Amino acid sequence: MPGKQLIILAHGGAGSDNAHSDGTDRACLIGLKLLQAQTPALEAACRAVEILEDDPRFNAGTGSRKRTDGSVRMDAACMDSNQRFGAVSALQHIKNPIHVSRAVADSKYRLLTGEDAHQYAVELGFEKVDMTRVESNAPGTDTVGAVVFDGSQFAAALSTGGTGGSRPGRVGDVPLIGCGLYAGEHGAVCATGHGESITLNLTAYRTYEMLGRGVTPQEALEAALSWFEDA
Ligand code: GLY
Repeated sequence: MPGKQLIILAHGGAGSDNAHSDGTDRACLIGLKLLQAQTPALEAACRAVEILEDDPRFNAGTGSRKRTDGSVRMDAACMDSNQRFGAVSALQHIKNPIHVSRAVADSKYRLLTGEDAHQYAVELGFEKVDMTRVESNAPGTDTVGAVVFDGSQFAAALSTGGTGGSRPGRVGDVPLIGCGLYAGEHGAVCATGHGESITLNLTAYRTYEMLGRGVTPQEALEAALSWFEDA
């Protein structure tokens, strides 16, 4: 009897060096092993992103870039085709924001922000880290992400340290449903790049809609990239 089709793809963010593809390969291998052990798509996608958050070569988690005031604020979100969605924004001092977004997805809330998101994570026992002591090795890079198919569900997970040098208070596309990510019965989409442009284009949802109309992933990707030609 043929096994289930399992798919996982991960990206290390716009601007990241191809020499760091061992990091995304590792994230995919660990995610794939979890899928082979029947782990649901949402959990596997978040665990793959956790690997990238723990790798300082990528702009997420411990590699997050600093804002103009020297602080670090992280955004993360996850979604699956069961319409589970959770996000955090402007989170600080938590090692793996992606897993906090996963906890939000399982709560009655959809997005928690700032100090209150931090407090929520602390109450749930998430591991803390002093971000003022963290040095990013990811200058000029952007959001990391993973998309997964576990044989029945699609899922997307996305995490970022934001745009380096941005003013405090700025939030990009990552925690906004349909902007940075979207997942549904037709597939899963994760974006990376300039958050304001991604948001204005409602990038993930419009790309997902194309998949629903039978457009191939490659054609949908090329169409989505064309929205940014003048950016
Ligand atoms: N794409 C991540 C951000 O702009 O915040």
